[in-house]
Amino acid sequence: MENYLFLFSLVLLFGLLPFSSQTPNPKNPNPKPPLTQAHTELINYGFPIGLLPASVTKYTLNQTSGNFAVDLGGTCKVTLPPDNYLATYSKRVTGKIENGKIAELDGIRVRALFKWWSITGIRSSGDNLVFEVGMVTAKYPAKNFDESPLCEGRHSSS
Ligand SMILES: *[C@@H]1O[C@H](CO)[C@@H](O)[C@H](O)[C@H]1NC(C)=O
Repeated sequence: MENYLFLFSLVLLFGLLPFSSQTPNPKNPNPKPPLTQAHTELINYGFPIGLLPASVTKYTLNQTSGNFAVDLGGTCKVTLPPDNYLATYSKRVTGKIENGKIAELDGIRVRALFKWWSITGIRSSGDNLVFEVGMVTAKYPAKNFDESPLCEGRHSSS
């Protein structure tokens, strides 16, 4: 039961806060890093490039099954817009991608309510992205993910 309360609070946190801060970010002063193949594929499947950090070192996709693996050259810590959630990417992120849908996602976690939550899936829904944390979902405007975040902390092993 306690877990459900946590999840419910998470829904509130993810779901309500964004609406209080929908002003667009000021122009990004940093130059855009070049797009990797992984980022281009995200666009092909209907997702914004900002779901992946800029530091992709290797990318594989099975076009038939949709199974993919993205290597980031190390773990990666980023701050997600618009509410500055702390998120971490594992050295390797895997999942299954099809048009507008990423499932069986492994390797992306978000810090909220003093806990780390694994993002298990991402769906594209109109102008929004729907993030799945188990049974719980949180919706964000896709335009918040137009830029690839840069890794803030680098750890050589994980
Ligand atoms: C790609 O996925 C298909 C369907 O699951 C599978 O049959 C095939 O062996 C996979 N190819 C590679 C190179 O892993």
